[in-house]
Amino acid sequence: MTEQPQPSAPSAPRYVVVTGGATGIGRATALDFARQGATGVIVTGRRKDKLDEVAALHPALVPVCADVSTQEGADAVAEAVEAWGGTVDVLVHNAGVHTIGAVGSIDPEAARELFAINVLGTIILTNRLLPALTAPGGSIVFVTSPAGHNPTPMASVYAASKAAVDTFTRSWALELAPRGIRVNAVAPGWVRTEVYESHGMTTEQVDELFQQAATSVPMGVTGVPEDVSRWITLLAAPGSAWMTGQILTMDGGADLVRARQV
Ligand SMILES: NC(=O)c1ccc[n+]([C@@H]2O[C@H](COP(=O)([O-])OP(=O)(O)OC[C@H]3O[C@@H](n4cnc5c(N)ncnc54)[C@H](OP(=O)(O)O)[C@@H]3O)[C@@H](O)[C@H]2O)c1
Repeated sequence: MTEQPQPSAPSAPRYVVVTGGATGIGRATALDFARQGATGVIVTGRRKDKLDEVAALHPALVPVCADVSTQEGADAVAEAVEAWGGTVDVLVHNAGVHTIGAVGSIDPEAARELFAINVLGTIILTNRLLPALTAPGGSIVFVTSPAGHNPTPMASVYAASKAAVDTFTRSWALELAPRGIRVNAVAPGWVRTEVYESHGMTTEQVDELFQQAATSVPMGVTGVPEDVSRWITLLAAPGSAWMTGQILTMDGGADLVRARQV
């Protein structure tokens, strides 16, 4: 059922772009911004059916079918931004894919595609939208991973892509601070989303993986998308105006345990 728009808090972000906003963490983030009173939240992705599904949930959600790894995708997002007056208060780089592969047998094509989405995609869209980003007061939030600073075996390509994103977070924060634009990131641990099924695992395999994963988490539980989205909206909120260049890990303490094992 479509939710009713709420009156905006005077300082809440009004115009938001969430890449990969039709599913998982992106979807929860887009809904959080909309429920907090954003006027418009563009959600992007490649699957139109998924975008239409999420857009039906709240009138502030604007679906834009766009591949983040392409200039055409960025142009399509910019066109939708133009339609609401050419302003973006918050840009959330959430779209991402995962791949596994042992050193020596990494599939170069899969690696190329992953870097095109997880890394180059954030450059292409930022290039296109930066002139529209509110300055001062605008904010970029990346969705990275603890793997970016604490890599696991068999996922080196994914970890390297998130390490690149971690570097963008700090480097762009420095570059954009004089314009009053902040750049931060969230690094979630195990979150049950469709990313696992999209990479060929059955639901039973994912259930088993998450049961196993929970035993490695000090808090004893894995996460849900809302455990992450609430931090994304908080990082973007005007009340966080002094916070930039930071990468917040939320994972029930798992990263601390892995760091001690190294
Ligand atoms: N779930 C976890 O345990 C976990 C942990 C740490 C970090 N993360 C990060 O969290 C982010 C969101 O992942 P998720 O777990 O919520 O998984 P998800 O539900 O699979 O979300 C990924 C989204 O990215 C979109 N996407 C992928 N490639 C795209 C492209 N080329 N252009 C536009 N959109 C694209 C997908 O939509 P389409 O396929 O329709 O394009 C999908 O909606 C990712 O960056 C991931 O690396 C997840």
